Amino acid sequence: MQQIRTLMSSEFDQVNQLIIDQLHSKVALVENIGHYIVDAGGKRLRPLLVLLGAGALGNVQREHISLAAIIEFIHTATLLHDDVVDISSLRRGRPTANAQWGNAPSVLVGDFLYSRAFQLLVELGNLPLMQLLADTTNTIAEGEVLQLTKAGDASTSEAAYFEVIKNKTAVLFAAAAQGAAFISAADTETSARLYRYGLNLGIAFQLADDVLDYLGDPEKMGKNIGDDLGEGKPTLPLIATINSGSDTERDLISAAITNRDASGIEEVVAAVTRCGALDYTMERARFYAEAAANELSGLSDSPYLQALNRLCQLAVDRDR
Ligand code: IPE
Ligand code: IPE
Ligand code: MG
Ligand code: MG
Repeated sequence: MQQIRTLMSSEFDQVNQLIIDQLHSKVALVENIGHYIVDAGGKRLRPLLVLLGAGALGNVQREHISLAAIIEFIHTATLLHDDVVDISSLRRGRPTANAQWGNAPSVLVGDFLYSRAFQLLVELGNLPLMQLLADTTNTIAEGEVLQLTKAGDASTSEAAYFEVIKNKTAVLFAAAAQGAAFISAADTETSARLYRYGLNLGIAFQLADDVLDYLGDPEKMGKNIGDDLGEGKPTLPLIATINSGSDTERDLISAAITNRDASGIEEVVAAVTRCGALDYTMERARFYAEAAANELSGLSDSPYLQALNRLCQLAVDRDR
C-alpha cells in the first residue's frame, strides 16, 4: 500500500491538504470533531482510487484532487454515522467520536461533512459527476437502513447480505473509479468498466472487513472485533455457518444474532472457523477481487493500472 501511495505522493499530499483546508467552520465543535477523525488517518483508499484511475487514463487534473477529497469526506461522514448506529467505541485507533462527544454531535458533524462534500462538488460544475454522487450517497443511506432492518434477523439470506454490502460500501468505490473517468472524459465503455471495477473491489473489501470483525487484531485494525455480533449483524461468516454448520453451530449463531449478543464471541469465532464459513467468505472475497481485476484488462498498461490491479489483492489480503 505504501508503495502505491508513493506512486502518487505529491497528488496524495494535495488531497490531504485540501481535506484539512475544507474542514474549516465557524463552529469550533465542528472543526474539533472533523479534525479528530480526519487526523487519525485511515487508509485513504477511496481517494487513492480516484488518483490511480486518473493516472491510468492519462493525467491527474485539479478536479481529480477535489473529487478525491469529496469522496473521502463522504466516506468520513458515513463512518461518523455508522459508529453511532453500530454503537462502536474504537475507530482508527482512537475512541470513536460518539464515545468521545456523544451521538448527537457525531450525527450532526457527519451531516456537515456530507454537505461540505456537495459544496465542493458544485464548484466542479460537472453535472454527470453530481448525478453520480447524489445517486451514490442516496444508495449508501438505503444500504445502511436495509442493514438495520436485517439486524437481529437470523433468517437473512446470502442475497440480502450482498445487496446490503453493495449498497453501503461498494457503490462508493465504484463512484470513485468512475468519477475519475468522468473528469478524464473517458469513453462510455471505459467509464462503465471502471464502475464495475470499483463495485467488485468494494464488495471484496467489505467481505474481508466482515471476516476481520471476527479474526482481526484490534491493535492493527484500530477498531474492535465483535462489533458486528453485538449488533446482531448477519454478515456472511454467520449466514454461511447457519447454512452449512452443524445443528449446534447453527443454533449458537442464530441465538447470537437474535439476541444481539457478543458475549459468546470466542465460541462464535471457533464455530465460524471450524465449519469453514470464514474460508468461504474469503473465497467469495477473492472471487470479487478477481472480477474487479478482470475489468482492467481492456485498459492500456501503466504503473497506475498495475497499482489498481494490485489493490485487488490488497483489498482482500489485509490486516487493517
Ligand atoms: C471502513 O472503511 C468502512 C468499510 C467500508 C468497511 P475503511 O477500512 O476504508 O476505513 P478507513 O478510512 O481506512 O479508516
Ligand atoms: C461499513 O460497514 C459501513 C459504511 C461504509 C457506511 P461496517 O459497519 O462493517 O464498517 P466498520 O467495520 O464499522 O468500519
Ligand atoms: Mg460499523
Ligand atoms: Mg465492519
